[in-house]
Amino acid sequence: MGKPMALNVLKKGFPLVVYNRTASKTEDLARAGARVARTPREATEAADVVVTMVSNIEAVEAVLTGIDGILRGLKNGKVFIDMSTITPDSSRRFAAMVEETGAKMLDAPVSGSTGVAEKGELTVMVGGDPRVLNEVRVVLQAMGKFIFHIGDNGSAVSMKLVINHFVAGMTALLAEGLSLSESLGIDPSVFSNVLNSSAVKSPMYDMKTPKMVSRDFSAQFPLKLIVKDLDYITLTAEKAGARMPVHDAVKEQYSAAAREGLGEKDFSVLYEFLTKK
Ligand SMILES: NC(=O)c1ccc[n+]([C@@H]2O[C@H](COP(=O)([O-])OP(=O)(O)OC[C@H]3O[C@@H](n4cnc5c(N)ncnc54)[C@H](OP(=O)(O)O)[C@@H]3O)[C@@H](O)[C@H]2O)c1
Repeated sequence: MGKPMALNVLKKGFPLVVYNRTASKTEDLARAGARVARTPREATEAADVVVTMVSNIEAVEAVLTGIDGILRGLKNGKVFIDMSTITPDSSRRFAAMVEETGAKMLDAPVSGSTGVAEKGELTVMVGGDPRVLNEVRVVLQAMGKFIFHIGDNGSAVSMKLVINHFVAGMTALLAEGLSLSESLGIDPSVFSNVLNSSAVKSPMYDMKTPKMVSRDFSAQFPLKLIVKDLDYITLTAEKAGARMPVHDAVKEQYSAAAREGLGEKDFSVLYEFLTKK
C-alpha cells in the first residue's frame, strides 16, 4: 500500500523522502524521483509531514520509537500521520509520545485495496485536531478521494476497524453463499450476475465475486492482515463492552484458514478454504 500511495504523492509534485525496512522495495520510488533515507529518523528530519503505512502495532512502534526512529526526528511544526490499521488505544499512546516532541499526530487509516491506492482514490478517515488536518489535507488528497474527519486521536482507527468488520463479514458471507449456490447446482456466473444486480449488490462483491469464481487469490489484501484486524476488533470491542457474536464466528473461519497456511493469499481465499474441506 505504501508504494502506490507514495508514488501518488510524488505525482502531485511534492518532494519525497522514503524509508522501508527492506531497502530494495524503495527502488521503484527512487526511479520515480524519491530520495531514499537510511533510517526513519533521517526521513523525518528531511520532512514537514511524515507518513507511516506499516503492518501492525509492533511495526508502528518499531519505526516510531526505534533507536533511529521517527520520534528522534520530530519537533514542533512537524506533523506525523499514521495510516496503518492499528487499535485506537495504541494510536492514542503513539499520539501522546509524538506530542512530547512538540509535533502533532493524526491517525489516518484508509479503506480501499492496492488497486484503489494506485488510482489515488482511497477513502481516508482522520482522527486528531481538525486544524492539523487542514494543514496536511493536500498531502492526503494526493492519496485519497474522500477525506473524513472522524473525531479525536484514535477515532479514525476505531472507524476503520468497524469498516473492516464489514469487509471480513461480507466476504465470509460471499464465500459461503457462492459455495452454497454451487452445491445447489447454480452456475457461478449466474450467481455472480444475480448477486450483483440484487439488493445486496456492493462494489466489493463486484470486485471479489469474479476472483473467487476464477479462483484467483493473488494477494490484494493478504488474509494474515485481516486476521490481524479481526484480533484488533476483538480487543477494541471487548474494551468498549460491545457484543460481537457474528464477528466471533467470522474470525474463527479466517483464523482457521490462516492455520492452514493461507495467510499470504488474498483474504477471499476463504472460499477455497470452505470448498476444499
Ligand atoms: N493491502 C490492503 O488492501 C490494505 C488496505 C487498507 C489498509 N491496509 C493496512 O495498511 C497497512 C499496510 O498493509 P500492506 O498491505 O501495505 O502490507 P505489506 O505489503 O505487508 O507491507 C507492510 C509494510 O510494513 C513494514 N513493516 C512490517 N513490520 C515492520 C517492522 N517491524 N519494522 C519496520 N517495518 C515493518 C514492511 O517492511 P518490509 O518491506 O521490510 O517487510 C512493509 O513496508 C496495514 O496496517 C494494513 O492493515 C491494507
